[in-house]
Amino acid sequence: MTDSAPSPDNVLRLINGYWATGVLGAAASHLLFTHLETGADTAALLAARAEISERGAQTLLDGLVGMGLVELHAGRYRNTPEASAYLVEGKPASLSSFAQLKLKHMGSLRHLADVVRAGGPVSDPATEVADNPHWEEVVPAIAAQSVPAATVAAEVLGLAGAGEISILDVGGGSGIYSGVWLQANPAARSTQLDWEPINAIARRLLAERGVADRFTCIDGDFHTTDFGTAAYDIALYSHIAHQEGPEDNVAVFARLRQALRPGGALVVCDYVVDDDRSGPAFPLIFASEMLLKSKQGGTWRQADYRDWLIKAGFTDVSFHSAPPATLVVAR
Ligand SMILES: C[S@@+](CC[C@H](N)C(=O)[O-])C[C@H]1O[C@@H](n2cnc3c(N)ncnc32)[C@H](O)[C@@H]1O
Repeated sequence: MTDSAPSPDNVLRLINGYWATGVLGAAASHLLFTHLETGADTAALLAARAEISERGAQTLLDGLVGMGLVELHAGRYRNTPEASAYLVEGKPASLSSFAQLKLKHMGSLRHLADVVRAGGPVSDPATEVADNPHWEEVVPAIAAQSVPAATVAAEVLGLAGAGEISILDVGGGSGIYSGVWLQANPAARSTQLDWEPINAIARRLLAERGVADRFTCIDGDFHTTDFGTAAYDIALYSHIAHQEGPEDNVAVFARLRQALRPGGALVVCDYVVDDDRSGPAFPLIFASEMLLKSKQGGTWRQADYRDWLIKAGFTDVSFHSAPPATLVVAR
């Protein structure tokens, strides 16, 4: 190798990227971060607490130290601040169940080469299947990820001081946006449109947040369920646009425009790529999930959203950063 040859380190790290998904998902499955947080700080103690083998506990700890999620001091292990904030079960921002879900999903990536050839799902489409049980696993696991975006959106919209407003959340999933927004504004009411089993999950989570009395659900397919006319002040479409093709997004946006009162706002939250497709990294890479799971989805550009929203009758479109997502606000 000459002096100027690049190192293979990064390529090797990426080829072995599934090690991270595996170690992290297995550690989360055995609540390792939670046990570390509550004082089990050696492989033997963790093995006993998690009811796993000591060899397995040591292997996970080695991997987590290697990944920078666990620190080792004088023979004792502890969570890094990052692991403590995001991987301990029961904390509001915990991604532990998401790590477990991704470990289960990892196998689907072996189809990616065939999916790329075919231009869409070859075995297991997820987003076009009505009432797919896929969502019952996904929706609680992704809820924590929407908290920062819901908080930014509440600030952008001035929700806390907006008084008796009425919100429509299309494909609301866990109801996380309604939960954050109804807590921010005690006079607001929210309606979520989603499949019946998902709405049942949302009702339970909203009851835990103490706002279920201002939360209503409509069971059904958002492609065909009537949104009403001039009925809402805010409409929300979060992490839905990426599963839909351009025509369906325009059609939903036009119906949401009709459902909004004069002066109302539509908020779209999604992974949005730059117009020249040069970044940001997360939305660019996320597109592979949509190729695997949807027939027409993808990660769309700011120019796409602007074009679709203008076609749907909105006149003012703005973009607000909520990494790794972007909020698109249309009036
Ligand atoms: C990726 S999740 C997004 C959940 C939530 N909006 C969020 O941002 O966290 C997609 C949600 O859309 C719902 N969904 C997908 N297709 C749907 C359809 N055709 N009709 C109704 N709901 C649908 C799923 O059940 C799921 O709750």
